[in-house]
Amino acid sequence: LLSGGGLGLSGALAHRPAHTGGVLRSAGPGPEPYTVPLPVPPVLSPAAGRYEITQREASAEILPGTRTRLWTYNGTFPGPTIESRRGRTVRVVHRNELPVPTAVHLHGGRTPADSDGYPTDLNLPADWPREHHGAGHAMADPRAVTSRVTREYVFPNDQRATMLWYHDHRMDFTAPAIWRGLAGLHIVRDDVEDALDLPGGERELPLLLCDRSFDADGALRYPALDPALRDRPGVRGPYAAGVLGDVILVNGAPWPVHEADAARYRLRLLNGSNARHYDLEVVTDDGRRLDLVQVGSDQGLLAGPVTHTRLPIAPAERYDVVVDFGGLKPGTRVRLRNRLGSGRTREVLAFRIARQAKDASRIPRRLATDLPVWRRSQATAVREFAFRAGHMQHGRGWLIGGRAFDPGRTDVSTRLGAVEVWRFVADVHHPIHLHLVGFRVLSRGGGPPLPQDAGLKDTVSLRPGESAEIITRFDGYRGRYLFHCHNAEHEDMGMMANLEIT
Ligand code: C2O
Ligand code: CU
Repeated sequence: LLSGGGLGLSGALAHRPAHTGGVLRSAGPGPEPYTVPLPVPPVLSPAAGRYEITQREASAEILPGTRTRLWTYNGTFPGPTIESRRGRTVRVVHRNELPVPTAVHLHGGRTPADSDGYPTDLNLPADWPREHHGAGHAMADPRAVTSRVTREYVFPNDQRATMLWYHDHRMDFTAPAIWRGLAGLHIVRDDVEDALDLPGGERELPLLLCDRSFDADGALRYPALDPALRDRPGVRGPYAAGVLGDVILVNGAPWPVHEADAARYRLRLLNGSNARHYDLEVVTDDGRRLDLVQVGSDQGLLAGPVTHTRLPIAPAERYDVVVDFGGLKPGTRVRLRNRLGSGRTREVLAFRIARQAKDASRIPRRLATDLPVWRRSQATAVREFAFRAGHMQHGRGWLIGGRAFDPGRTDVSTRLGAVEVWRFVADVHHPIHLHLVGFRVLSRGGGPPLPQDAGLKDTVSLRPGESAEIITRFDGYRGRYLFHCHNAEHEDMGMMANLEIT
């Protein structure tokens, strides 16, 4: 792509369906799918009212018999899960023992700007020279704030119950940082959700899906992972459109299997991949298809359930679905599969029905009554943004409105409380994410939204050549926020812009 003088995706490639990037092959095939048990990330307990997370290198046995060096939150991948209550402030103290600066962003959080993990708002390691290039962008940004070693992030959690995730957001280096393990879940709960009898306890499973590639010794593969990491942002070659791995991990384990009751399960799905899209389906080994009954979206419960036979999920999107294993005989195997994959990347996760069981859960026909509704007539601005590849310069070839990210430039300025309609157009797949606010999808390609667009979203998946409109109200906090493509390689290569709320 680059030898052709830039990311010239305007031609045939733009119309290739599901184009997201290049598959980086592993040295070996990895384990036989559905032999490794499904892990569930540990839930973090606060100490003296604060959560403490140390960002450090650690190794884990991801592929059986090998060790993988990772960058972690508290030594595990995914990091520990934070469980919080709506309206109850959570304080998280991060300690940076990694060899690089970091910025922690709570994706989907209604977070004051100074705790939002702005990409130049860096927490430096103890020995990081301030003038080093890796923090140079922060230096070039007059509003950059830096801390050293420890940094407290404050999350008021004044928001609907949902599953958020936290991940690294350092300018130019988000993709390799997430790839190396800097991601974890944060679940917000509230009374609205508690009043419903959705499946809970062991029958509620957070599922972080992602893809990775490995060397024979278990090391992660990533184009230009190191040592170029310090001063050469961006990814070269066929992976400049996004890096795809060939090993599918769920909660950090390759193609795991979970022993399940013959009962309803609530699956809290997150696509934590850098660039891979999934189109999920649930099938039994004897060919029966089970519905994915969607009860929630990125930003919490829907007004009522939406039934899918397949569910596309783009990077950073979350779907809260109930799957009913009731009536399946013990011994039955059920697979969550990806229709967009090929060979082993079609496989994701299996459930082995272990026993009959009582099930007191249900899926109410009415779920949430607190979904915000905004009307076009309320909008005080309509804006349009083209998400397109452009000429590659200094590692930046993915553009919004023809421009690459510049922390020193305000791209959108709006007033606290303003309702706005934003229209996006895309050349290839771009999952578009706004910080701070949830939004409703108003239209796609001039027509109605898709069934999976229901509810309150914070990431909308634009398909190749597609346009979509969203509506939102910019409330909560003033300050500098972001919107960007959540294909993490696109993001690192410039597809990000500033949103200033005044
Ligand atoms: Cu999930 Cu700006 O990020
Ligand atoms: Cu993109």
